[in-house]
Amino acid sequence: VSLRRLRVETAAPYEVVVGSGALAELATLPGDRPCAILSDSNVARLHSERLGPLSSRPGLAVPAGEESKSFAVLERVLDFLAEIGMDRHSLLVAFGGGMVGDLGGLAAALYQRGIPYLQCPTTLLAQVDSSVGGKTAVNLHAGKNLAGAFHQPERVLADTDTLATLDDAQLASGLGEVVKSALVGDAQLLDVLERQASAVLARDTELLADVVLRCVRVKAGVVVQDERERHERKRLNLGHTFAHAIEHAAGYGRVPHGIAVGVGLVLALRASERTGLLRDRALLERVRRLLARLGLPAGMDALRERHGARLAPDELVRAMRSDKKGRAGRPAFVLVRGVGELDVDCELDERVLTELLA
Ligand SMILES: NC(=O)c1ccc[n+]([C@@H]2O[C@H](COP(=O)([O-])OP(=O)(O)OC[C@H]3O[C@@H](n4cnc5c(N)ncnc54)[C@H](O)[C@@H]3O)[C@@H](O)[C@H]2O)c1
Repeated sequence: VSLRRLRVETAAPYEVVVGSGALAELATLPGDRPCAILSDSNVARLHSERLGPLSSRPGLAVPAGEESKSFAVLERVLDFLAEIGMDRHSLLVAFGGGMVGDLGGLAAALYQRGIPYLQCPTTLLAQVDSSVGGKTAVNLHAGKNLAGAFHQPERVLADTDTLATLDDAQLASGLGEVVKSALVGDAQLLDVLERQASAVLARDTELLADVVLRCVRVKAGVVVQDERERHERKRLNLGHTFAHAIEHAAGYGRVPHGIAVGVGLVLALRASERTGLLRDRALLERVRRLLARLGLPAGMDALRERHGARLAPDELVRAMRSDKKGRAGRPAFVLVRGVGELDVDCELDERVLTELLA
């Protein structure tokens, strides 16, 4: 089976390699290039043999979980890079899910004012979304991803073999972002998911590689038009104002990101219907049904039931006011006319918002 390759034409272009065995490409790195591996405790335990020759290089495995996306852990990573003598040409390999990718990417952006890094995403969410695009961050007490930088990776190796060990909740989390990618710009992907939901859930590796590639294509297409999220890139935030508020109100790590995004998509579609913007009348129901078939909660009730979180509407609205996508406490939303037709920077009446979140 062949690997799929795609070039992201940012100011410094880079290649994304997707498919079974993609990590074998690590063997092509020059043996004398200093590098270090950042992973988390789960990925190090489950997959370090996939690093091949790189597994003998200096490595740091931070505790698994969103709590490690913090300033304290970031400092530990930077100290580690200094301790092992990394210089400005050394390479940091971020080997793990979105947490490791965001943390490692930010460490690479900061260490000696920026060193190159590789994204080796090991969760579906990281493969379809966070490893591409160069957004890196850690969380602050005040909110998710509030301290970060744009720093594009040198290369992305998305090895779909690593996905075999994801638990069902982690797979479901990635699928939330997959459905988002389809809505942002790939109507065919929506059809594929509807037709092949059970093969996706059975982790058919070829199908997953196709799905990952499609999502990367959507994301790359948007990112190259707007590397620094001035306008076009905001499309990728579809569902995310809701999702970040849900994650924040539930307590970081309680509701997996992509699961919050899935619910956020439904809320964004409902808001689009409420405000008369949604032209594709069937879309809301299609997305609800698809999420349910993929094993994701398709609304606030299902989410509260599944995660045992209270998620009171007023608390969610408060969380949205501190969202960095909005200005001066006015949360901004991406609304939907149809697949690939999105309006960014929309505001919603607080009454409508509270009603949607009830
Ligand atoms: N930078 C971006 O553009 C961007 C986009 C979307 C999400 N994110 C960020 O990504 C993070 C979420 O990513 P995530 O869901 O990958 O979280 P994660 O990295 O915390 O991984 C989730 C869990 O899966 C485990 N894991 C990782 N790979 C595994 C594997 N192959 N098999 C078994 N277990 C494995 C991890 O140890 C962890 O326990 C959030 O912090 C979010 O803010 C960033």
